Amino acid sequence: PKPKVYVTRIIPEPGLSMLKECCEVEVHNSKEWPPSRQELIEKVRDKDALLCLLTDKIDAEVMDAAPNLRVISTYSVGFDHIDIPEATKRGIYVTHTPGVLTDAVAEFTVGLILAVTRRIVEADKIIRTGQWDKPWNPYFLTGPELKGKTIGLVGLGRIGVATAKRLSSFDVKLVYYDIERRWDVESILNMEYMDLDTLLSVSDIVSIHTPLTKDTYHLINEERLRKMKKTAYLVNTARGPVVDTNALVKALKEGWIAGAALDVFEQEPLPPDHPLTRLDNVVLAPHIASATIEARQRMAELAARNLIAVLKGEMPPALVNKEVLQVRPLEKVKM
Ligand code: GLV
Ligand code: GLV
Repeated sequence: PKPKVYVTRIIPEPGLSMLKECCEVEVHNSKEWPPSRQELIEKVRDKDALLCLLTDKIDAEVMDAAPNLRVISTYSVGFDHIDIPEATKRGIYVTHTPGVLTDAVAEFTVGLILAVTRRIVEADKIIRTGQWDKPWNPYFLTGPELKGKTIGLVGLGRIGVATAKRLSSFDVKLVYYDIERRWDVESILNMEYMDLDTLLSVSDIVSIHTPLTKDTYHLINEERLRKMKKTAYLVNTARGPVVDTNALVKALKEGWIAGAALDVFEQEPLPPDHPLTRLDNVVLAPHIASATIEARQRMAELAARNLIAVLKGEMPPALVNKEVLQVRPLEKVKM
């Protein structure tokens, strides 16, 4: 019999077709809404594989409901929504989609930096609301030039490097902090390594590119925001909980920093009446940094390849929990 797969959303092609070629596929029939938790737990019971999104919390309770589960393939690069140690313990392979969305996120990050410093969103709003009511003047909607400024990247993984590459064409000084020193990238891109607190105190723009882990939860808190320049901007395209939102709102209101551009939030969707939405020095985006048509299609393809590989007993292209190989070794299966 074909292995049984549950897919928690209608994902782009060729993802679903690839799965249907070799598996019995049940898809949660929506492009927009995730299954309820109850439905998720119900649907995984008899499944060998799960293809989920970052909106699905996959914890011990879900895994316990699915005794046959061999692989959790997430349609995302981030995997903070999955309890990795619990999966490893049960011999469940966890895979993700690194690499294929790197360029999309880096491009969007550059867009956010320009949008917030050059006040592009504010400017658009001013015209639409009839506030462009005087002739050209030298002081209208001015912001800082990037050239000559210092941009600090917090986290220099795939996305941090791709962002640095693009930013280097703006003739800025690039500095970074990471738990690991990236000597190779550092010399090629002419970046300076520094500890986080120093980076925050010297950067004109701080852009976050870390995964969400126990160690990066509220990494940017009140104390750290106070270390930033009053003229500096914070950009977050990583995960909302890396920044303490309440502290950030305070920082933006009280002028500890000049502005922020955010694609991710502690609470998603961000409620329309959230204090952040009242601030003109903030650019907001609804978690769309990876939202190019190309990236979303490649993510689906890679998520499908990862899942199928594990079911066939082959090494998946992007395994998260390498330790699982010791718990349940791969066993070749003809499919
Ligand atoms: C998006 O946030 C992802 O993790 O892919
Ligand atoms: C601006 O439009 C300029 O001509 O300087």
